[in-house]
Amino acid sequence: MHELAALIRAVPDFPRAGVVFRDVTPLLADAAGFARCIDALAEPWLGHGVQAVCGIEARGFIFGAALAHKLGAGFVPLRKPGKLPPPVIAVDYQLEYGTDRLEVQRNAIRPGERVLLVDDVLATGGTLAAARVLVGQLDAELVGASVVIELDALRGRERWPGGKPLHGLLHY
Ligand code: PRP
Ligand code: ADE
Repeated sequence: MHELAALIRAVPDFPRAGVVFRDVTPLLADAAGFARCIDALAEPWLGHGVQAVCGIEARGFIFGAALAHKLGAGFVPLRKPGKLPPPVIAVDYQLEYGTDRLEVQRNAIRPGERVLLVDDVLATGGTLAAARVLVGQLDAELVGASVVIELDALRGRERWPGGKPLHGLLHY
């Protein structure tokens, strides 16, 4: 995992003062590193019958789509408002400042389908919690969630109700 961490760039004061942005673009650009990352993301879920990977816009699409391929699952995008053609369902959630909204197509997941949520970063946990609500509204069977990076100090994991595993590959 040290090799993967070496491919993530810390960018101070981006996108605003006081934030240390964890930039995954060097990891994505490194063929061996990206492959190792997807293998490591997949490992806990092999044999768990995942049928759909739900990736969160935008960076969650990159990891989620590759992971879906690895797991032999479909890929379902959870998108920012106004991007997906109807019919969609939506959930609003709190950001550090203001609110945001995630949408999914109503027919993208069948009731009972075994779903894995994927994103690049778990920060305050609001986004992943909203994604969980969204797939719950479609009566999906949530298997769990994986993120590439968990920012432990922001305690996003505390907003993830127990019962379903949440895997973070790298911790800061
Ligand atoms: C980022 C990241 C996660 C979210 C985590 O999304 O990709 O989705 O923040 O934050 P939280 O745990 O505090 O909710 P963002 O919309 O900033 O970026 P992206 O569209 O570039 O992926
Ligand atoms: N999303 C939320 N916080 C982030 C951070 N510090 N780096 C990269 N993506 C993020």
